[in-house]
Formats: sequence, structure tokens, C-alpha cells
Amino acid sequence: MRVARPRGVTMGLLNWFYVLVVTSIAGTSKPCFPGCRCDVETYGLFDSFSLTKVDCSNVGAHVVPVSIPLDTSYLDLSSNKLEVINESLLSGPGYTTLVNLNLSYNQIVKISATTFSKLRYLESLDLSHNHLEVLPPQSFFYSRLADLDLSSNHLVEVQMGAFTSKSQGKAMDIDLSNNLIVSILRSPDASQPNIWSLTLSGNKLKSVPDLQGIPLRYLNLDMNPIFKIEEHNFLGLRGLTHLSLSDMQYLQEIAPYSFKELQFLQILDLSNNYKLKSLSTEVFVGLSSLQELNLLNSGVVSLPKDTLHYLPSMKSVTWGQNIHCLKTVKESQFHLKNGHVRKEVLVCHNKNGAVSAQDVL
Ligand SMILES: *[C@@H]1O[C@H](CO)[C@@H](O)[C@H](O)[C@H]1NC(C)=O
Ligand SMILES: *[C@@H]1O[C@H](CO)[C@@H](O)[C@H](O)[C@H]1NC(C)=O
Repeated sequence: MRVARPRGVTMGLLNWFYVLVVTSIAGTSKPCFPGCRCDVETYGLFDSFSLTKVDCSNVGAHVVPVSIPLDTSYLDLSSNKLEVINESLLSGPGYTTLVNLNLSYNQIVKISATTFSKLRYLESLDLSHNHLEVLPPQSFFYSRLADLDLSSNHLVEVQMGAFTSKSQGKAMDIDLSNNLIVSILRSPDASQPNIWSLTLSGNKLKSVPDLQGIPLRYLNLDMNPIFKIEEHNFLGLRGLTHLSLSDMQYLQEIAPYSFKELQFLQILDLSNNYKLKSLSTEVFVGLSSLQELNLLNSGVVSLPKDTLHYLPSMKSVTWGQNIHCLKTVKESQFHLKNGHVRKEVLVCHNKNGAVSAQDVL
């Protein structure tokens, strides 16, 4: 699962931009490299600027090097059986200002630290569904990547230094799901990569990797053979707002205080961990911002009595086979002497109707 980027105050402006763009968008084709398709889209009230999308997917390995128009923003080289990709194949007019590059569904075995060095303005790179086995240090050093998809490759070890960049400006969203990753390596002297969203689901990690000091907000470790969450696992990840630890068929235990530094965590997904049978109250210590707890189809059938006390921001709990509970404030008018009595209770239901919260708490 991926999170949407925070939008916030710019939304209004974006809406206006969207209206202007959409009302005057015009798509035309123009002459293009053999086998490819070049679509020009003009934007703005007076078609004041245009961007070209070059689609060279499903052409074949002979497609590279492909020359592209100067105003190309998106180049699609997916599904071409490419085995080799290097800087001389990714340079020339148009490449310096390329924003999106799609190299997915090829057979690329390796990249080097210079492969993408000419793509100074690249923001999005899709390398998913290739045969990459290693990532050299600073593989993406010269670009300004915000989105990097490396899912469904053959990566076994990943050195975090692969993701440091010259500018360190943009926060990156990196997808490493469905590889063969057994370890994440850190070198103590290298600068921290600026990653805000990291997806590591569907790998071979046996323990939570050391990600300390990386400014993560979203972390997904679903479907890894981890069987214990240890107390130190999330130290130095204070900025996390969304943590997903679901579909772990071996997970049996979460140590007390494991989440104690995660004071900004809003969503915790522990669903489909059927071997996880119980959680102690101390597991929830520190989760003062937690709003959503997902225990759907886990082995946990009840929570300790005073759990809600540790979760002052809790809004909803999902557990069992599709039982949803919402926290509701009950006000009672009967105790006039003490004014109104406010009591927070969980109101639960499944598809057949109301369920007693007593069963979960
Ligand atoms: C890049 O790859 C092409 C095609 O395999 C090769 O001809 C060329 O020499 C390579 N260039 C560099 C700089 O390695
Ligand atoms: C890249 O191309 C593949 C195959 O056409 C497509 O599924 C994928 O969504 C594309 N990636 C991006 C980032 O547009």
C-alpha cells in the first residue's frame, strides 16, 4: 500500500491550476523516432507551454539509443527486453531535462553510479520488473528523484548509500518490494538518504532493518519472515506516521516498548499476523498520536483492559473477522452533582450488526 502525498494548503491553488490546464489541454502527435509515439500536450490558457510524452514501449532492444524531442518530459522505454543501459544510451538533447523515465519490464541486470548521471532533472524513475542484483553506492546521485520504483528485481542486499543524492533536497518515495532482500546495509560515515516513504514488503528480512536517522514517515515491512519485533527496532524513527507490519506469517511477538519513540505515529497495521496471539499494554506505550489500529485477522482476540488509556488519540480499531470499533464519547447527564460525566467507549460492529466492545477490551 502506498500513501498519498500530503496536500494541505496548496490544494486550492492546485485546483485552479487543474481547471486551467484541463480546460485548455490539447493533445497532438508529432513526428517521432521509428517505432515510438510522440504526444504533445499543451497547457495554459494560450497553450503557452507544451510537454512531449515519448512512448517507446514494446519496440524491442534495438530502440536504444533513442533520440527524443527537446521538450520531452516523459520517456517510456518499458517492455523492450533491454539488458544493458548506460549513460551513453541516456544522453543527448532532451535527456538533460527529462522528468520521468520508465524502464520497467526489461532485463536490466546492473546499473552503475554514472548510468543516470546526465538526467539532472529526473524526478521519477521506474526500474521495476528487471533483473537488478546490486545497487552501487550513489546510484542516483545526480538526479532529483522523488519517486523511485525498484520493486520486483533480484536485489539481495541493499546499501542505503545507494540513495544519497547531491542535492539531498527532495524527499524520496522508494519502493523495494518483491525483491530478495535479506539485509539493509548502512555505512556509518555516509550521509543519510532523504527518504520519507520506504516499501520493503515481500522480501526476505528476518528482522526489522536498521533505518535509524532516516527521516521516514511511511514504512512498510509487510510479508517478511520476521518473527519478533524488538524493543530497539524503531529507535530514531521519530517522524513515522504510518507503519505497516502485516501479513507476516512468522510474527509471534512484539516486545514491550517497541513503539515508545513513535509519538507521531497515526496508523499501525498489524493485520493478518495470525501467529501473533497477544499484545501487552506496554506495547502501546508512547503511541500518543495513534488514530488507527488494524488487527484484522490477527491472532490477537483481545487487548488488555487499559489499552485505550495509552492511546489518547485512538479513533478506530479493526480486529477479528471484520469487526470495526470507533471510539465514541458518551456523556451522561445523570450525575448532576459532578456536572457532565464524559466517558470514552468503543462502539463496535461487524457486518451483522453491533458487537460488544467487551470482547476486545
Ligand atoms: C553503453 O552500452 C552500449 C550498448 O551495449 C555500448 O555500445 C556502449 O559502448 C556503452 N557505453 C559505455 C560508456 O559504457
Ligand atoms: C511504466 O510502465 C509500466 C508498463 O507499461 C506501467 O505499468 C507503469 O505504471 C509505468 N510506470 C510509471 C511510473 O508510469
